[in-house]
Formats: sequence, C-alpha cells, structure tokens
Amino acid sequence: MPASSRNNGFGTPLMSIAFKKHDFSEIEDPDQRRACFRGAMARLGAAVNIVTTDGPAGRTGFAATAVCSVSDDPPTLLVCLNRSASVHAAVTENRVICVNTLNAGHQSLSNLFGGKTPPNERFATTDWSVIKTGAPALDDALVAFDCEIESISQQGTHDVLFCKVVGTGQRDQGNALLYFDRQYHEI
Ligand SMILES: Cc1cc2nc3c(=O)[nH]c(=O)nc-3n(C[C@H](O)[C@H](O)[C@H](O)COP(=O)(O)O)c2cc1C
Repeated sequence: MPASSRNNGFGTPLMSIAFKKHDFSEIEDPDQRRACFRGAMARLGAAVNIVTTDGPAGRTGFAATAVCSVSDDPPTLLVCLNRSASVHAAVTENRVICVNTLNAGHQSLSNLFGGKTPPNERFATTDWSVIKTGAPALDDALVAFDCEIESISQQGTHDVLFCKVVGTGQRDQGNALLYFDRQYHEI
C-alpha cells in the first residue's frame, strides 16, 4: 500500500500530518525538554497495568505503563517506578510485586491506582487473590505476573525494578486496555 494512502485510523492520511523533529541538544530549558519528551512518549502506546505489593511494609499499588519484558530465561521483566510516588517505600521494602495487565473495562481501576487515592480505597472496588509472593493478583486481569524484585537501578527520577517472574495467571479471552495520546483505548 503506498504510504500516501495509509491513514491513522481516523481518516486522516499519515503523509499529510507534519513529522515534527526536535534536537534535544538545542533545548536548554529542562522543563521544555521534559515536555517535549513527554509529548513524544504520548505517541508510544502501551498496555496499562496495576502493579501491587504486600508484605511487612504494607499493601499498596500503582498504575504503570512502563513495564517491559527483559528475558525469558530466567523469566524477567522490568518496571519503572517514580521515586516520589507514595508507593515507593512499600514496593522497595517488600521486594515483591504483581504486575496485573488490565482488560478493556478497567479504566476506572486504572484511574483509582493512578491518582491520589489512599491505598486501602484502591483495593476496595474489585476482587484480588494471591499467586505465590503475597502481592495482590487482580482476579479479572488479562494476565498477572507474580514477581520477586531482584535488583533496582536508579535512572533520573525513577527506579528501574528488575523482577524475577515466579508465577503467572492469565485469561485467554478479553480485550486489552492501552494508553495512547493521553487517552485510554480498547483493542
Ligand atoms: C495510565 C497511567 C500510567 C502510569 N504509568 C506509570 C509508570 O509506568 N511508572 C510510575 O512510576 N508511575 C506511573 N503512573 C503514575 C502512578 O500510577 C501514580 O504516580 C501513582 O499511582 C500515584 O502515586 P501516589 O500514590 O503518590 O498518589 C501512571 C499513571 C497512569 C494513570
């Protein structure tokens, strides 16, 4: 198919939309550079997850799109967590998490875990169980990865959690919830 006839799904030909380029070495203002990076990241669609933890430092969780597979041997994924988030101490002290990938009907759950809601209220609206580590697994998640945090690496404002996957739960049906262009989408 010629590039000029491809479209963005909303009827607008892709080639008629400007390809805006930015050279970050020319953007001196850190706020402007951050906004520019965030604007670019808004074009990178990603699955929405609720990352939970439980243990001596308490039960809590947060919404996260910065989740990625690292290796299948041993099964490993990474999660990026802002060090200023209220959940940070509990996650890094408990050293266990469950990454629950949301299904298409879970927008309000994502907002609950992505906002400033107290930890106990975050868990009140739906059912949770446990796979192995004790971190809450969402009963109607598309897939849940139960993990032990193996190592933590600091990068900028975030901690990168490298997590050994010790168990999973999954559904073979259901649609995914994606975050793209600062909005939720169902696929
Ligand atoms: C769709 C979505 C994706 C998010 N992705 C991340 C992420 O990958 N990493 C992160 O640290 N925070 C992410 N957040 C923000 C956290 O969920 C949010 O900071 C946290 O739940 C609220 O922190 P608080 O407990 O300090 O109120 C995301 C929020 C939303 C709504």
